[in-house]
Amino acid sequence: MISFARGVPGPDCLPLEEIGDCTLAVLQRPERDAAQYGPPAGFPPLRELLAERHGVDPARVFVSNGSLQGLAFLWQRLLQGENKRVLVEAPTYDRPLKILQGLGAEVTGVPMDDGGLELDALERALDEGPKPAFLYTIPTFQNPSGRTLLLERRRQLVDLAEAEDLLIVEDDPYGLVRFEGDPLPSLLELAPAGRVIYSCSFSKTIAPGLRVGYLVLPPELAAAVEAIAVSTYVSPVIFTQAIVWEFLRTGLLEPNLQRAGGLLRERRDAMLGALEREFPDGASWSRPEGGYFIWLDLPGEVDAGALLSEAEAAGVTFVKGTDFFAGPGGESSARLAFSFAVPAEITDGVGLVAEALRKLLGRVAPLPATV
Ligand SMILES: Cc1ncc(COP(=O)(O)O)c(C=O)c1O
Repeated sequence: MISFARGVPGPDCLPLEEIGDCTLAVLQRPERDAAQYGPPAGFPPLRELLAERHGVDPARVFVSNGSLQGLAFLWQRLLQGENKRVLVEAPTYDRPLKILQGLGAEVTGVPMDDGGLELDALERALDEGPKPAFLYTIPTFQNPSGRTLLLERRRQLVDLAEAEDLLIVEDDPYGLVRFEGDPLPSLLELAPAGRVIYSCSFSKTIAPGLRVGYLVLPPELAAAVEAIAVSTYVSPVIFTQAIVWEFLRTGLLEPNLQRAGGLLRERRDAMLGALEREFPDGASWSRPEGGYFIWLDLPGEVDAGALLSEAEAAGVTFVKGTDFFAGPGGESSARLAFSFAVPAEITDGVGLVAEALRKLLGRVAPLPATV
């Protein structure tokens, strides 16, 4: 089965040799602290390095076992009170949707277009209901759409959030996974202090199996999230946090972004090229400058679930669009991850999906002739 479903790096993207070197180095530390319990907010040298990177106090950095765990702790705290209203992008990453729903959140989806979140729609959502506890957004190379919030809209979003006293949770695991174009400032960088909580991960920039991600929080929330961590585990995985610290400290990140980014770019190009060649008029898709995903809108309102069944029977899989919406939406859309399969598989896989689509389109009843 060729997988466009897995939003994970291909095995060749992982810097295994470098991780091995970093592992040995941290085990040789005279402090003998890499294989020890550590503070609930993470390995202190890593917190310091990340704090320096973001120009904040280390007390505001909370390092967790993957970024999703940090977000889950944060949301547990933010949704403790009466206010359960949360705004998300529509579509958005499916796992946070499940976490939010598990915490009793009342989730409202705000539509996106090619330039990211639609700010008019956000304003309407703010007008139409009680003030939300927060907005969850993935502004750069979004999962699942691959779309990026335009610079101008970033500024407008931050201004709107200030005017409406809206807390923003910015999830940014893909910002550094850019193969072309100019980097954009994060919302954290653009906003006044306290307006944005920032989440980042090393899953896509080093390796997901290390399970290292982090939050940058206002001090009082950092303390609250730390308290939840203490009551959940004695300590996060200090060992892999120390490995990530060594990786960053010794300057391995940038060359790894270049190397893995080159592999990912080839995959994205293979997918865009195959979509261009194989897909019929009426289909459209995003053209991301980085990240892992392409969002595909099917022609003729073809049901993506039906297409998935046909495609899987032919040996290729993807995720249907409906998985990424809290309410209706995505019925005729799909998330295609180009990160995992190699270019030749991507070319074959897109061909198989296109063939399955042609089959379905042939089955759809012809439109009535216009009079
Ligand atoms: C938008 C987004 N946030 C968070 C995560 C989870 O990252 P982690 O492995 O750090 O938990 C992912 C992983 O796919 C993601 O796409």
